[in-house]
Amino acid sequence: MAVVTGAGRGIGAAIAIGLAARGARVVIADMTPPDATVATIGGAAVGVAADISTPAGWAAIEHAATAAFGDVDIVVNNAAYYPNHPIDDLDFETWRRTMSVNLDAQYLSAKQFVPALRRRGWGRFVGISSNSIGLNVQGMSHYMASKMGIIGFMRGLANDVAADGITCNAILPGLTHTVATEAQGEEARRAVWQAQAIQRFAEPDEIVGPVLFLTSDDAAFMTAQAVVVDGGQYRVG
Ligand SMILES: NC(=O)c1ccc[n+]([C@@H]2O[C@H](COP(=O)([O-])OP(=O)(O)OC[C@H]3O[C@@H](n4cnc5c(N)ncnc54)[C@H](O)[C@@H]3O)[C@@H](O)[C@H]2O)c1
Repeated sequence: MAVVTGAGRGIGAAIAIGLAARGARVVIADMTPPDATVATIGGAAVGVAADISTPAGWAAIEHAATAAFGDVDIVVNNAAYYPNHPIDDLDFETWRRTMSVNLDAQYLSAKQFVPALRRRGWGRFVGISSNSIGLNVQGMSHYMASKMGIIGFMRGLANDVAADGITCNAILPGLTHTVATEAQGEEARRAVWQAQAIQRFAEPDEIVGPVLFLTSDDAAFMTAQAVVVDGGQYRVG
């Protein structure tokens, strides 16, 4: 069974639908009841309204999972907070909220589920980071710090749980066609696309395949990695 956060819409919804299509039962977590995603998947899904930046939110997710389906195998941390604030007007409250939603949630999910995954000797954590950490994107220092933090946490967590059959990886999507990016002007989008080998938006469905792979048995020897899915924009190595 899989938990996907922020799956009421966008990339998270696509991931939840993709996992269900592969045969997983899925817990769809979001701030408000994620009815649309649950309706799309049907009986293999249960929705839970939870703030994933709090321990209470993760307790509610585990409760919903156990009540509906049983044990969790896969945790995809996808929900994010991403307001644009150049450093001059980035207040501490915004910085803290960004860290809390984007990074604390990764830690809280591990504390919530690692003990049970360890007992069963199999588990998958996927943290959704962003390729923006390697790009000239302004007004996002808080977001970029949190998204780098996801990679660091996945690497460290991978070391701690490797002997228990649990893998931990990050995925770095590029600019993807969601509500979040709809607001961007055509000029800004084209500027991004010019730097990509594949010069267009990613559709949310195109982020799903790498998640399916990383959460499968086929990826059993792949852990602590940062996997870039951005049409060839951010090139490392
Ligand atoms: N869209 C892009 O271009 C893009 C690019 C790179 C990375 N990403 C990352 O992909 C992920 C999904 O992006 P998206 O564009 O689909 O975002 P989105 O804003 O469309 O969806 C995010 C969902 O997370 C939920 N959420 C936010 N805070 C929450 C909280 N505290 N508790 C529970 N749910 C919460 C929101 O309600 C929303 O439904 C994010 O981690 C984002 O940083 C997106």
